[in-house]
Amino acid sequence: MSETLPPIPATAPPATPAPADLDRILRDPGFCRHSTGRVAVVEWEDGTGWSEPRIEPYGTLAMDPATLGLHYGQAVFEGMKAFRGADGSVSLFRAADHGRRLALSAARLAMAEMPVELFIRACAELVAADEHWVPGGYGQSLYIRPLLLATEAEMGLRPSRRYRCVFLAYPADPCFGSDFRPLAVTAATETVRAVRGGTGESKCAGNYAASLLTRTQAQAAGYDEALWLDGLERRWVEELSTMNVFFVWHDEDGPRLTTPPCDGSIVRGITRDSLLTLAGGLGLRAAEEPTAIDAVREGLRTGALAEIFASGTAGAVVAVGRLGTGDGDLFVGDGKEGPVTARLRAALLDVQHARTPDTHGWLLPV
Ligand code: COI
Repeated sequence: MSETLPPIPATAPPATPAPADLDRILRDPGFCRHSTGRVAVVEWEDGTGWSEPRIEPYGTLAMDPATLGLHYGQAVFEGMKAFRGADGSVSLFRAADHGRRLALSAARLAMAEMPVELFIRACAELVAADEHWVPGGYGQSLYIRPLLLATEAEMGLRPSRRYRCVFLAYPADPCFGSDFRPLAVTAATETVRAVRGGTGESKCAGNYAASLLTRTQAQAAGYDEALWLDGLERRWVEELSTMNVFFVWHDEDGPRLTTPPCDGSIVRGITRDSLLTLAGGLGLRAAEEPTAIDAVREGLRTGALAEIFASGTAGAVVAVGRLGTGDGDLFVGDGKEGPVTARLRAALLDVQHARTPDTHGWLLPV
């Protein structure tokens, strides 16, 4: 029997709920179930350029049905987070890197590129207004979703001359749950998400749409996610629909971390980059290295491949416990989270919650 859909909200959610309601939400926010009731908006128009950020109540977007962004897919987004530190202060994590990535995504889709300084200012103003919405639990955050959309109405195919960027904010647990239960994933053997030279590395809405059919089929078959292979040879592991992927190999010199290189069809994950950086500090060898699905299969059978995990802003760091390879299912180790995965997640969350010194300059206090 199908579930009843929740009604479309007729009014904006309250930006300042009663303290008891806010406490209840922040204790168990789930993933983006409750908007803070406020957004930041920045607009661009040909000839005028970028507006200053405005903080507005959350509300529906009124759009002409001929809007270019709806027909031809000029829509890119970011996923970033603000964390509460051990001392109660709130900081944005790697805001400039998210701003740069939004500009790269926009450039690939011939959209206006927002200056990084303006992007950071819009995020910071929104988080300052929503400071009371930032949860304090370890692993929890205020998830910020900047969406840049072409808003000009035009039926001919050409880049829009008008854009709007709406920054949404939600208190959030990690998207696959705060218990970090290991995921079951299965390699996509029939469809591809992206090809080199396409839009795979930009965070455009179309990439996520392209992943939905296979991801939904994987979920119906009992997996959490689809694991994408390269679009040309269908051989090289790329990423999951929502997260990058890492492997932990064991050889005589100890654990060695690898992740597929970002060569055009993989999202340049900021969590991915953070983990590659943090691995060095933990004394782990780490490399960006092409990995064939056959080598994964073989490594799991022989035990040379000890751990697989996924990384992303929304999900943080989550172990993969079971892998469908297109040729039967294999467990990763004993199917439980491995020690390298746990250490890397702790190292990341410790920096994000300012429990360890921010030696890389990743935190921007708000
Ligand atoms: C993120 O990790 O922030 C993303 O944008 C992935 C999204 C599909 C949840």
